Amino acid sequence: MDTAPQQLRLLDPPAAVPPGAAGDAGPFARPGTALRASRTVAVLGACGGAGTSTLAAALAHALRGSGERAVLVDLDVPGAGADVLLGIEDEPGARWPELAAARGDVDGEGLVAALPRWRRVPVLSGTRAQAAPPDGSVVLDVATGLLRAGESVVLDLPRASGWSHAARLLAAAADTVLLVVPSTVPGVAGAASAAVALQEAGAGDPWVVARRPAPGRVDATAVEAALGLDVVAELPWDPRLAAAVERGEGPRVGRRAPVGRTSARLAAALARAS
Ligand SMILES: Nc1ncnc2c1ncn2[C@@H]1O[C@H](COP(=O)(O)OP(=O)(O)O)[C@@H](O)[C@H]1O
Ligand SMILES: [Mg+2]
Repeated sequence: MDTAPQQLRLLDPPAAVPPGAAGDAGPFARPGTALRASRTVAVLGACGGAGTSTLAAALAHALRGSGERAVLVDLDVPGAGADVLLGIEDEPGARWPELAAARGDVDGEGLVAALPRWRRVPVLSGTRAQAAPPDGSVVLDVATGLLRAGESVVLDLPRASGWSHAARLLAAAADTVLLVVPSTVPGVAGAASAAVALQEAGAGDPWVVARRPAPGRVDATAVEAALGLDVVAELPWDPRLAAAVERGEGPRVGRRAPVGRTSARLAAALARAS
């Protein structure tokens, strides 16, 4: 198992850092700020198209709705880009390529102000214009800077086969890992493989989210039995959400939308668990 580097000691008790005490973060160098409570939630899919990115975005939205500051961080790079799924690809603001100099003591508040927003959620997205993934030390320093600024970080992780060293460390350091599992035979098989990867990375047991529909014999009870893990929520399939994404409007996650309701329940469960 990898050992969490210095950057991830952010999960240790807070300590005041004087201005300029740590490394050079370029334009995102952090002034001395007090630390606030924040959490890392890693969202991972059992297979492609599980609805992982959508749930990660909806959860960040629900956390902000509950009064918690939360940022969506797209680590599935290269990929379509969270901004495209959310319909904000034309919004100005920083994406991973603009953060190449964000190393050392990153100013999380300044970074949040520089990010495009989807509804009330600041989004750190990849971009299809640049295939290269962000440098691992940038990813870790940015996540650390956000957490130190009191922002909860919702990570949209790629599938385990695509994890960078930084993604593996962040999965291991996350307070909670959500594993999105389509209620199908391949979905459960992929989830079993993801659960092994999480264990090997040193992550805690994931919270399983069983995504509907269940076209065959795999329901939430069968998912639990196959994985030996609790299903904490069932994620509905919402055809209107998929249609809204196709129109470039981003997913429907309001209080009356099915995915919005599930995300609100998950946000409440996270609050109870902390
Ligand atoms: N709960 C859902 N109901 C309906 N459509 C969904 C749902 N979740 C995701 N989708 C649609 O499925 C596609 C893949 O979703 P995405 O979140 O990108 O999956 P993943 O990140 O697991 O590959 C997108 O077009 C999205 O609009
Ligand atoms: Mg995705």
